[in-house]
Formats: sequence, C-alpha cells, structure tokens
Amino acid sequence: MDAFKIQGGVRLRGEVQVSGSKNASLPIMAAALLSSGNSVLQGVPDLADVRAFTQVLERMGVRTKRAGDVLELDASSIAQYEAPHELVRTMRASILVLGPLVARFGSAKVLLPGGCAIGARPIDQHLKGLNRLGAKIELEHDYVLASAPGGLRGTDVVFDMPTVTGTENLLLAATLARGTTVLRNCAREPEVIDLVAALCAMGADIEGAGTHEITVRGCTELRPYIHRVIADRIECGTFLIAGALAGDPLTVVGGVGVVEHQMALIGKLRAVGVEVDIDGDRITVARPSTIGAVDVQTAPYPGFPTDMQAQFMVLLALGKGTSLVTETIFENRLMHVAELNHLGANIRVEGDSAIVNGIPQLSGSTVTATDLRASACLVLAGLVADGETVVRRIDHLDRGYEHLEVKLRAMGARITRFTEIQARTSVRHPRNRQRLGNPALKPQVSLKVGPYSTQAM
Ligand code: EPZ
Repeated sequence: MDAFKIQGGVRLRGEVQVSGSKNASLPIMAAALLSSGNSVLQGVPDLADVRAFTQVLERMGVRTKRAGDVLELDASSIAQYEAPHELVRTMRASILVLGPLVARFGSAKVLLPGGCAIGARPIDQHLKGLNRLGAKIELEHDYVLASAPGGLRGTDVVFDMPTVTGTENLLLAATLARGTTVLRNCAREPEVIDLVAALCAMGADIEGAGTHEITVRGCTELRPYIHRVIADRIECGTFLIAGALAGDPLTVVGGVGVVEHQMALIGKLRAVGVEVDIDGDRITVARPSTIGAVDVQTAPYPGFPTDMQAQFMVLLALGKGTSLVTETIFENRLMHVAELNHLGANIRVEGDSAIVNGIPQLSGSTVTATDLRASACLVLAGLVADGETVVRRIDHLDRGYEHLEVKLRAMGARITRFTEIQARTSVRHPRNRQRLGNPALKPQVSLKVGPYSTQAM
C-alpha cells in the first residue's frame, strides 16, 4: 500500500490545472454502451476509478483505446450483459451499466454494489425507476437481474430523494425507451448536466438538465459521441482549500464551468475571511491572517457538496472559534475526525454533526485514510501541520485525484510517495537486514495498515 510523507509549514504558490471530472467521466463512459459505434471522450483523468470502470466495460466486450486524456469506447459488439462481479465489488459506480444494458439489449446482470466506508449506498431508487420503465427486476443472491425483452416504455418516475447516479441510470435507460419519460426530483449536479450534454451529442432528445424535472423523448437508436468532460469541481475545491490553508497565493485554473460549480464553497471560504479572486476560469486564493469560524451543512447541488466536507473541516480546525459541520447525505462520513484529532485538532462528533473548536496549529503524526475524500482532507492537514505527517492508504486517494503529489510539489509542497510493506519482514533476520539496508531499495516502512475497505465510491 502506498503512503505519503509530508513536511508541514510550506507555502503554496503559482498555478494548478484542474483535471477532468471523475464523476462526469464514469456515467458518460457508460453512455457509450447505448451506441454501436466508437465514442470519443476527451479530458478523461488518469484515475484508478476510471481504469477500473474501463476494465468493467472491456470485460463486457467494449473495445477501448486510451491515448493521453482521450478514451475511445466502441460498443459495437458487446459479448455479455453482465458486469464482472469481482470488479463491481471495488467499483460501485459499475451499477451505471444497468440502465444502458437493459435499454439497448433488454437484459442486464450486475452484482449489488453494496455499501462502502461512508454509508450503505442503497440503489433502491435505481431499481424502482427501471421497474417503472417496464424492466422486470429480480434479486438473485447478490445480483440484480433486469430484463425487458420487449424494450422499455416511457413513463413518469419520481425519486424519493435527489440521487446523482440514480438520475444518471434512469437518463441512460430512458433515451432508448418507447415514448416520453419525465423524471422528477432529479439530482441537479453538474455531472448530470454533462451526461445529458453527451447524450444529446448522441442524438438523444432531453430537456430540463440541471433542474429537478427532466423530460426524455425516447428514440430507436443513438450514434456514438465525441465529448469533452467538464473539470472536476471536487478536485478544484480541494485546491481552493489548499490555497486557503497555505496559498501565497495559489491560482486554480479550471475548465468549463469551474467557477459556477464552486459558488457554495466560495461563499463559505469568504465567510471565514479567505479572499477569493475570480478572473474568468481562474480562481486565486491565499491564506488569510486569521481564519474565522462558520457553520456548514452539506446538501445536494447547488448546496455545499458532501464531497468537500472533510477537506473544509481542516480549515475550520484552524479557525478562530467554534464551527458546526453537519453531514446530511451519507450516514458515516465523519471518519476523518478521529484522524484530524490525532493531528491535534479539537473536534467532537455528535450524531451526524462535528463540533469543531479551532486551534492555532496542527501537529504532524501518522494517520490512515478511510475513504476518498478523507484522504484528501489528511493530505491538506499534513501540508499545514507542524513537522512531518505520514498519510497511509493512499490507494483511496488514487481513486479520485490525478497525480496529486506531483501537482502539490509543483506548487511548493514537500510531499513524497512511498510504499508500505505489511509487517511480515523481521529486520533482525540477516537477509532482511541486508535487503532493508540496501540504499537502492525504495524507502520502505514496515507497518500494519488499517483494515479499511478500498471500495470505490
Ligand atoms: C454520487 O454518489 C457521487 N459518486 C458521490 O461522490 C457523491 O458523494 C454523491 O453522488 C452525492 O453527491 C459518483 O457520482 C460516482 P447519491 P451516489 O445516490 O450517486 C441515498 C466521491 O467522493 N440513496 O446521490 O451514489 C444515498 O444513500 C463520491 O467522488 C438511496 O437511498 O450518491 C445518499 O444518502 C462519494 N437510494 C443519498 O441518496 C438510492 O437508490 C444521495 O446519494 C440512491 C441513493
């Protein structure tokens, strides 16, 4: 398992370019299943989640080709309508193949993705919606079997709550349904809007993206897309917080829509005294002399993103005063609090809230990441903690951040990646002493690592 070693107390300067969005890339990759042609997706980030999902599609018969940030996907000859179970276990977004497979082929079999570190992550809304479109849904052992031999038919679907991938799965399915589908109580996230843009490039007839009500007029077939994915608003927000913590100053350069997608975070940054300067798609931030305190409650877009909650808590941990952070989307997304307290923070969890009592300085130590955004939070904390911080389980981070340590080093951070080995080797054994003493080997630290699931989000 990889870990980061971070020297705290640095200042971050210059510019950093935001990569393409993970959470927009995944549903648009799934959309390629709807067409028997070669789709081209540009601006695709080099992430573990994207590589894993590419593997899922390849195992189903999609021919893929990756050159730099361009990913080609040809679903002309799908060999099977089942997502490989061993890959679904680590790649829960694989559930996004359900809608396109049952819409185009009338059949789909996907392992139930199950929960992950941050919550149970049910998919009842996905299944209820597909059933409304006429798919027969069966649960067999740990699998979902969806069948619609006569095809899907358009109808009304009302989600019990705004669900991002639930909205995306139903959009994918409805494009090939007979008749019109009206989806209500939809998620309004930018990633949903980007999926609709790609589907319209395929010839789909969709109105209302970005609102709670989306109308899809089904068609008989779709052509392949050529599409450039939007910038990753969560990576962008993570860098804005890095700038608020250590910027001297730091400019974050995004792609399409990057500023518009950040307004909830920018509002909270300004509320704690961070100066945010916006110039087109460039956002410049610097550490203020004093960080204030502010209450934060996560909410569906355009509210404060749950995917930014852990990172923003680092700023509040150094604030002057007490802040209340309430997580309303996932039931177990405060695991980073214990790790922040290990770095000297003064945070107490009560139910779905964290009471953050600001302190002047964090102190470096060894901490373990529990999930994707918690890992980003701990890296940010290490950048400003006094002394050295080791962040274990960087495999969580690699799922959603493209070459993070390279980007941070370019801004002045002192951060290196190293490989941990399980504590199986004894340094007392002569052979190991010689091996471990060998300077040519990568610095290795023998440590037991936490038993956290590495399931993707
Ligand atoms: C997407 O997850 C993102 N993942 C998550 O990003 C993000 O945190 C989340 O949306 C919320 O914005 C991808 O897009 C791949 P939801 P998703 O369905 O779609 C409940 C990251 O860090 N719900 O919008 O799985 C659910 O339990 C990841 O990049 C049901 O009850 O989230 C949650 O409480 C983490 N039944 C709420 O809805 C369902 O059928 C919102 O979840 C579906 C969801």
